[in-house]
Amino acid sequence: MRVLVLGGTGAIGGAIVRNLIAAGHAVSGLARSPEAAERLMEIGAEPIAGDIGNPRLWAGAVVGDLDAVVHAACSFTDAMGPLDSSLLDTLLPALAGTSRRPSLIYTGGCWLWGPSPDKTIDEETTLDPLPAFAWMVPNLRRVLAEPGIRGAVVHPAMVHAERTGPLAAMAERVRKGQPVQVVGSPDVMWPLVHADDLAELYRLVLEDAAFTGQVIGVADNGVPVGTLARLMAGGETAIELVPEDHAARERGDWARGFARSQRMSGALARDRFGWTPARCLDPGMPDLDSAAKRS
Ligand SMILES: NC(=O)c1ccc[n+]([C@@H]2O[C@H](COP(=O)([O-])OP(=O)(O)OC[C@H]3O[C@@H](n4cnc5c(N)ncnc54)[C@H](OP(=O)(O)O)[C@@H]3O)[C@@H](O)[C@H]2O)c1
Repeated sequence: MRVLVLGGTGAIGGAIVRNLIAAGHAVSGLARSPEAAERLMEIGAEPIAGDIGNPRLWAGAVVGDLDAVVHAACSFTDAMGPLDSSLLDTLLPALAGTSRRPSLIYTGGCWLWGPSPDKTIDEETTLDPLPAFAWMVPNLRRVLAEPGIRGAVVHPAMVHAERTGPLAAMAERVRKGQPVQVVGSPDVMWPLVHADDLAELYRLVLEDAAFTGQVIGVADNGVPVGTLARLMAGGETAIELVPEDHAARERGDWARGFARSQRMSGALARDRFGWTPARCLDPGMPDLDSAAKRS
């Protein structure tokens, strides 16, 4: 398939690019800077110059050749909602106008659901988004409702990888001899997925042309952050509690999500797509619980 990845230099998009190329797909990536173009070429994707803020400059020219777009770009600024909406204003009609019914795989996320430490969230659970990401809900509905494309939404849990994401940040603080920072409380539970496992799920969704709808990508359903800090430290470690308001002031309102306690189910991804995440924090019990019980 010929696939354009938006956000192909990011934590999620980069893993998707590498996975799709390894599976034999022809991958291009939107690059908003020469540095991004360089990074895309390094991982084997063809860079296409453009910004999600100016889709009229690139969308019409590229979509005619595509079988699919994977959208995993996000600016994490106050403007991210309007930016995403205006991207869809141009991208959806451009894709629908190609008459080949291309796929658009949109990225949602665990923070589109409310706190749910006791009841496991699945795709049927009513959405209750973090206010900073509320714009994603109408946008993902637009993707699913567009008749001229095959729309699907992947909802990643909290993403971890060796060099990026909140677990890597914890490990870095341990390496520097600093206390691990925890927003809210060490009892807050995070659903988790490794970036490479998540990328595999995106590929499976992409290749299953009959699938439309939403799917959650989670490997460890919900692990207390205090347990994660100890796992990253390889034993007991000092924890510095960061109030939610402070995190929001420092990083943006979206950072309130770090204090959202959730458990999520990956059953649909496993049952429908045969997805078998290999990089669970607790390989002995991939569908969670033991890490939580250890705490
Ligand atoms: N990471 C998680 O734990 C997680 C969990 C659930 C959902 N999500 C969602 O997944 C999406 C991607 O997250 P991520 O963690 O992969 O983010 P990330 O690592 O910060 O990557 C963001 C990507 O978007 C690109 N981008 C940002 N603004 C752009 C613009 N104006 N034009 C073109 N490209 C632009 C960046 O390109 P540059 O290289 O040029 O900066 C980068 O490739 C977000 O919507 C996020 O809410 C993430």
